Amino acid sequence: MKRIGILGCGVVADYGHSHAIAQTDGLTLAALYDPNPEALARLASRYPEAQAFTDIDAFWRSGLDAVSITSPAPFHLENLRGAAQHGLHVLCEKPLAMTESEIEQMIGIAEGAGILFATALCYRFSPVAQKIKQMVDERWIGEVRSMRLIYLWNLHGKWERDEHGNRFESSRRIGRFEEGGPMVDCGVHQIDLALWWTGSEIIRQQAAASWVEEHDAPGHMWLHMDHASNCHTCIEISYSYAHTAQNPVDLFTYELIGTDGIIRYVRDGWFFEVRNSQGTLQLPGGSEKDFHGMYAAWRDALYTGKLGSLPSAREGLRVTRIARRATEAALATRFRK
Ligand SMILES: NC(=O)c1ccc[n+]([C@@H]2O[C@H](COP(=O)([O-])OP(=O)(O)OC[C@H]3O[C@@H](n4cnc5c(N)ncnc54)[C@H](O)[C@@H]3O)[C@@H](O)[C@H]2O)c1
Repeated sequence: MKRIGILGCGVVADYGHSHAIAQTDGLTLAALYDPNPEALARLASRYPEAQAFTDIDAFWRSGLDAVSITSPAPFHLENLRGAAQHGLHVLCEKPLAMTESEIEQMIGIAEGAGILFATALCYRFSPVAQKIKQMVDERWIGEVRSMRLIYLWNLHGKWERDEHGNRFESSRRIGRFEEGGPMVDCGVHQIDLALWWTGSEIIRQQAAASWVEEHDAPGHMWLHMDHASNCHTCIEISYSYAHTAQNPVDLFTYELIGTDGIIRYVRDGWFFEVRNSQGTLQLPGGSEKDFHGMYAAWRDALYTGKLGSLPSAREGLRVTRIARRATEAALATRFRK
């Protein structure tokens, strides 16, 4: 049994990582760490078999094989450094860090320590994403020439309320804007899918953005990417879509346009189909994420010592670089009336 520890017991550890670790054969959720005792206690109450620590040294000494880093991006470097010092393999949430040089530093530390270092790009493991990969590889729609990958949502809503009912902007939301905004936070998944599905590098990119809110990072962004294969991908991501609405709504779609047909996925209702010269095929839909599939791959990596189908840290660096450069380009050309 490989003993896994979680660093950072917030939202994604709660709904994604902890379940998947606990339910994957060959893995056991052995330890939890969070500097915030309340966050730690919330997650620990669901996993009484895991040891819970606010003391990082005690966490490192708890006999682990690997850690999942699910803290905010500004802490990923220090978390990875600690793991490397203790010879523990690392699966780290995206974005891997706040700057390219920090990510390069992390890769250097991991290589020096001889540990596995994977990026938690969990969209790749969704059955929908895997089926699209198979269809693209088998040319179900001929050659893919164009992709539209869209995610418009409210990032859990702008406001929270204190005990007196006064509203304030959610600190988690502010943190995600500070980590880089929608393209760096969510867009890295779509960039990764575009690269993985086509197997083709980006030779040119261009970004546009609008500021619906007063954060440095834009709330709504478009990224246009030309692949070496002659495919063009447009990614549109918003955090400001119905962000103040009492009844928010979102839009999550993939569209792939090929020389012989199209593939369409709409998350709402799990609509998934392919239309080509042979006819129309409705496919079983599913969620856009799959933490269980990712942890099955992580388990295999830990037992074989090879990352296999898991996105490497270098792939995590590649997508973060594209997303940050797009965001920086949008900021540099921001028009203010
Ligand atoms: N893959 C996905 O689909 C997905 C979804 C959501 C978030 N994320 C990413 O996961 C990370 C965490 O996001 P979240 O929404 O769970 O954030 P969160 O704020 O809900 O939780 C983060 C937790 O980390 C803790 N923490 C703070 N400093 C720490 C440190 N030095 N070491 C360890 N833990 C520390 C905090 O106390 C908090 O409990 C972010 O990088 C985010 O971009 C990924």
